[in-house]
Amino acid sequence: MSKLILAIDQGTTSSRAMLFSSSGQVVGAAQEEFPQHFPDDGWVEHAPEDLWQTVLRTARQVLADTGTAPGDVAAIGITNQRETTLVWDATSGEPIYPAIVWQDRRTETLCIELREQGHEPDINQRTGLLIDPYFSATKLRWILNHVPGAQARAERGELRFGTVDSFLLWRLTGGKVHRTDATNASRTLLFNIHNQAWDPQLLALFNIPEAMLPEVCDSAADFGHTLPELLGAAIPVLGIAGDQQAALFGQTCFRPGMAKSTYGTGCFLVLNTGDQVLRSHNRLLSTVAYRLKGKTTYALEGSIFVAGATIQWLRDGLHLIAKAGETESLAAQTPLDHGVYMVPAFTGLGAPYWDASARGAIFGLTRDTGIKEIVTAGLQSVCFQTKDLQKAMERDGVRPTSLRVDGGMVVNNWVLQFLADILGGTVDRPEIIETTALGAAYLAGLQAGIFASLEALEELWQSDRRFEPEMSKTRRDGFYAGWQNAIRGVQSLGC
Ligand code: G3P
Repeated sequence: MSKLILAIDQGTTSSRAMLFSSSGQVVGAAQEEFPQHFPDDGWVEHAPEDLWQTVLRTARQVLADTGTAPGDVAAIGITNQRETTLVWDATSGEPIYPAIVWQDRRTETLCIELREQGHEPDINQRTGLLIDPYFSATKLRWILNHVPGAQARAERGELRFGTVDSFLLWRLTGGKVHRTDATNASRTLLFNIHNQAWDPQLLALFNIPEAMLPEVCDSAADFGHTLPELLGAAIPVLGIAGDQQAALFGQTCFRPGMAKSTYGTGCFLVLNTGDQVLRSHNRLLSTVAYRLKGKTTYALEGSIFVAGATIQWLRDGLHLIAKAGETESLAAQTPLDHGVYMVPAFTGLGAPYWDASARGAIFGLTRDTGIKEIVTAGLQSVCFQTKDLQKAMERDGVRPTSLRVDGGMVVNNWVLQFLADILGGTVDRPEIIETTALGAAYLAGLQAGIFASLEALEELWQSDRRFEPEMSKTRRDGFYAGWQNAIRGVQSLGC
């Protein structure tokens, strides 16, 4: 029997397809970036066809590059940028508007109104989330308000809503299947995480017709088969999870107290809280970590909107570096007490501040500030933001037993050492840092029977390197106090 698993990872800036073996080893990978669209201040959109075509091309390419016959792929797992919102015609499959991306802030006014009307405590209780443009519901409301006739068509059952996983599944199955998994549903602001169902009161509040919503399944489930003409065979889709939850799964953080932090476009620290919903008093999110055989495991999440994107900006916006890889040696040449702080609040501040109107700033510039200080401050901002999340979790009474890290940025040893120093805790880098795709493969492989159990998956986690804190507490506290001043500066400037 064939045992290869194809993971489709549809992210914010690129789509990637990875083939994994039955022991969780990478057999091949293909990746393609696609354009970002910024049609207005604070707006971020993706062309749905770009999402679909890059997924299809990379999936075909990884099969071709590795000489894999489509029939040798036992299962597909899908993981995706979360919250990003699509609406399409149920008959033609054509989207009625571009995908509104999770970073998009256009619905801030509606969010302010809802908060002023006092809806936040109730919404938080039901969904574990806060009222913020980040989540899908207000984006969906915006599309139904602004595309002529959309609300009426939705009410007649002619339109479908989905996060990116649902849209891809719809296309992969030739319009036969409209499903999602509980992790993606839990990011919409419409899903009750306690009873694991779309919440009628929230649907009424946002005036969303239930007919347009996907069926919510476990994260490992029989989601449907691909049309044979797409990839050369009818391959079952057996796993779906939002990318941060997939990374938690790929890091095998299956026990309460285990946490991972993923450094992609943003940074998302997710801590397993077991079968309990832990309500945060520090503006962290309660969310679904995964749902297996009807049993839900929950997580506490801190979401930072800009992490790796800072380095992208240093490279593509400011042209201070040619490649992300240069940042490590630049930082190594820079004394830590350079005094420059960068707050990369390009799209506002996420957890624990949730300040959608904040904008980025650089503090502490002197005449001798140069490229290496600014680049180092950019790297450090990612670590300081992780510290903000760690502190918020501690105030909520939890401290991760260990922090497993992944995502593109963690190849940078300097960053991970500074992270361990500033957190005052151990940071673990696994051998496979593409844990998002790996998690999707694990979910699909579990459902296919390729992996026997969560315990069997735990055995596959291999450490590449452990980073231990070396900085004195006084020094750490001093650097962090400087960061907090910078955050206060950004907020008081109203920048
Ligand atoms: O919630 C947004 C998140 O899913 C995006 O992840 O990896 O594209 O930064 P990433």
